[in-house]
Amino acid sequence: MKPWTVPMLADAKREGRKLVMLTAYDAGFARVLDDNGTDLVLVGDSLGMVVQGQDSTLPVTVDDIVYHVRCVARGLRRALLIADLPFGADATPERALDASLRCLQAGAGMVKLEGAGHKLEVIRFLVEREIPVCAHLGLTPQSVLRLGGYKVQGREEAAAARVREDAKLVEDAGATLLVLECVPSPLAAAITASVAIPTIGIGAGAACDGQVLVLHDFLGVNTGHRRPKFVKDFLAEGGSLAGAVQAYADAVRSGAFPDAAHAYD
Ligand code: KIV
Ligand code: NA
Repeated sequence: MKPWTVPMLADAKREGRKLVMLTAYDAGFARVLDDNGTDLVLVGDSLGMVVQGQDSTLPVTVDDIVYHVRCVARGLRRALLIADLPFGADATPERALDASLRCLQAGAGMVKLEGAGHKLEVIRFLVEREIPVCAHLGLTPQSVLRLGGYKVQGREEAAAARVREDAKLVEDAGATLLVLECVPSPLAAAITASVAIPTIGIGAGAACDGQVLVLHDFLGVNTGHRRPKFVKDFLAEGGSLAGAVQAYADAVRSGAFPDAAHAYD
């Protein structure tokens, strides 16, 4: 199969093909993901929690992300590599440009950043400079100090309307993908129907155009945090690492994952 390119993502949505995404942090896992049906691989700032053992993603630096992007890039042949801009690295357009260039030089094909508001200007600034951007709305873990914890977002109508509006705005700003994290399934479905860019859900229901899970969650590797409702241990089902990735990819493509037990209503 051909390596993924950015324009192929919109084609997939138009043709109703679901996108399979997982996080990875090193070359070995990246290769297994790439060999077993994963379309998109994210070096997430979740590495702060699952690799570094921190309590949040806030301490992750651009150097940390770049190191792991370099590792993961060596393992990929077909999947598109997305790099998270860590907390603060997207605080201004100029900072975001510097961090993004480092991610692209390390092998990423797209960067991801959280939020809308003043981030819309950042998205526009990067896209105008030929850097593909994935937006991220709903529960944005870099907002944990303001939010006071990790909770489902967009439950009240006013909050839901804001997420719907922000989805339009990030699309208009030039984002080519949109991660929706921990929002009620009907809200994610409405957003998915209202934007032309693919939505990738995590705790956002089966109507999204694709799904993402954190590698460690999906393998049942846990450093003591409570397992969120939307996480499914595919290692138990798949029997091996390759089998787990294949089982996840099949379940995402068929629409079997996430079911109601792994989503919020
Ligand atoms: O950091 C991360 O792994 C993420 C995904 C959960 C989308 O942002
Ligand atoms: Na992240």
